[in-house]
Amino acid sequence: MRKPIIAGNWKMFKKLSEAVQFVDEVKGQVPAASKVDAVICAPFLFLPTLVEATKGTDLKIGAQNMHFELEGAFTGEVSPSQLADVDVQYVVLGHSERREYFNETDEAVNKKAHAAFENGLTPIICCGETLEEREAGQTVSKVSTQVTEALKGLSKEQVIQSVIAYEPIWAIGTGKTATAEEANETCGEIRSAISEAFGADVADQVRIQYGGSVKPGNIAELLSMEHIDGALVGGASLEPASYLQLLEAGA
Ligand code: G3P
Repeated sequence: MRKPIIAGNWKMFKKLSEAVQFVDEVKGQVPAASKVDAVICAPFLFLPTLVEATKGTDLKIGAQNMHFELEGAFTGEVSPSQLADVDVQYVVLGHSERREYFNETDEAVNKKAHAAFENGLTPIICCGETLEEREAGQTVSKVSTQVTEALKGLSKEQVIQSVIAYEPIWAIGTGKTATAEEANETCGEIRSAISEAFGADVADQVRIQYGGSVKPGNIAELLSMEHIDGALVGGASLEPASYLQLLEAGA
């Protein structure tokens, strides 16, 4: 009943020409949007070009971050209204790399989530624990807090439309995937936290992605789990062939 959503997070990779080549190759082969939501989250610089190149196709474009203010003296930032103005549809918020290297806080992620909805963008809200936190038994409290803080003050309808991405930090870019059972268990805990805060009817409808070394070889098992409704993929989303295989697994 929850449609899978497979999103590529290109991080700070590719040149514009490579990005255009990628979408030109992929856009005609993307499975129907009725089966799977296919998204590429690209660097800011490429967004208007990629939106234009994918117009009328089932490949959707997202940003990897944004500010929460609509305009102002914020040198180097990009606003939600600027993303909306060029028809970007998704935005990744609170990725662990932004939390770690750019001091993004739960409070900022919450402001960004509100700003996303006010501007017609769908947020992909990330959460995840470090290896140290996992070993100390703090996984559930860490991710539940991140998610409920990020969603604070949103309407039920907005929470239902949000996408949550559970990305254990120790599995990102390391080749170490959480087992499907581990990932499913934590995604289930995230769903319970959403249920407690917003009700079971809401929690049942929210899509929760897993991220962290997802590849064509492991995605099917991950997607077969009860609480995993898609994937947020770094490395394996950079090549057209592997990205398309990921989408096929979701369709
Ligand atoms: O946002 C996706 C990401 O952090 C996972 O990266 O390369 O392990 O798929 P990767």
